[in-house]
Amino acid sequence: MDGERAAGRSVGLVPTMGFLHEGHASLVDAAVADNDVTVVSIFVNPLQFAPGEDLADYPRDLAADLEVCALHGADLVFHPTVDEMYPEAGMSAVEVGEVARPLEGASRPTHFPGVAAAAARLFGILGACSAYFGEKDFQQLAVVRRMVADLSMPVEVVGCPIVREVDGLALSSRNVYLTAAERAEAPVLHRALRAGAAVVSAGERDPAAVVSLMAGLIGRAVTAELDYAAVVRPDTFATPSLLGGPGHEVRLLVACRFGRARLIDNMAAVSP
Ligand code: PAF
Repeated sequence: MDGERAAGRSVGLVPTMGFLHEGHASLVDAAVADNDVTVVSIFVNPLQFAPGEDLADYPRDLAADLEVCALHGADLVFHPTVDEMYPEAGMSAVEVGEVARPLEGASRPTHFPGVAAAAARLFGILGACSAYFGEKDFQQLAVVRRMVADLSMPVEVVGCPIVREVDGLALSSRNVYLTAAERAEAPVLHRALRAGAAVVSAGERDPAAVVSLMAGLIGRAVTAELDYAAVVRPDTFATPSLLGGPGHEVRLLVACRFGRARLIDNMAAVSP
């Protein structure tokens, strides 16, 4: 990519774990629109899965992924092996900051250090670029932004909107794990977030009230097992003691198990 940059051409990177869906395709579209050269990386990163999580089952379909990349105008697909990404045991790691501690960080303590290791290595391999991440993994986006800022990496991190099915379910590679009954109930996450955002925009000041509204709605779905519902500041992931102030924005986040699938979703909420 040095040659491209020396010739004044901008480079866009879309880091993925493959099994690409329309959400990923929207990231490729954004990268292609903004940059002269677009690279999609496809790497199921073992470091971001804890023992007992779904690393072995994680869906993979390289042939279909290559078609999506070609169809959406990606110039290059980087598909390294685990040995290429992590050639030795005991390699340097990235210590992620405060933003990685709550929510996903609390439920999956090794997840963000694993994400940071993969992202840092991809950024190092590719060099200066704009990197496109979906807002569905909103905390991941915040963690990567912090890492890039804290370590002065020559990367512009671009967050892109969540892509949803018509019934509101956020697209995720893990949706393939859902049974028919679970799939029917999974849009409750989006409904709960919308209900939460609606009371915030109607002037609710108490974050705990918003959390219990969302948790209550999700609790009515018989196949749902809530991990967390939360209201946080979008940049620091700290929990505000009080909502409010005109235009004050928070992020509502939920994580929930439906059988084998652990799904996450989130939405902005703005006070009046
Ligand atoms: O969001 C993902 O697909 C992964 O967490 C990422 C950013 C590619 C790092 O492995």
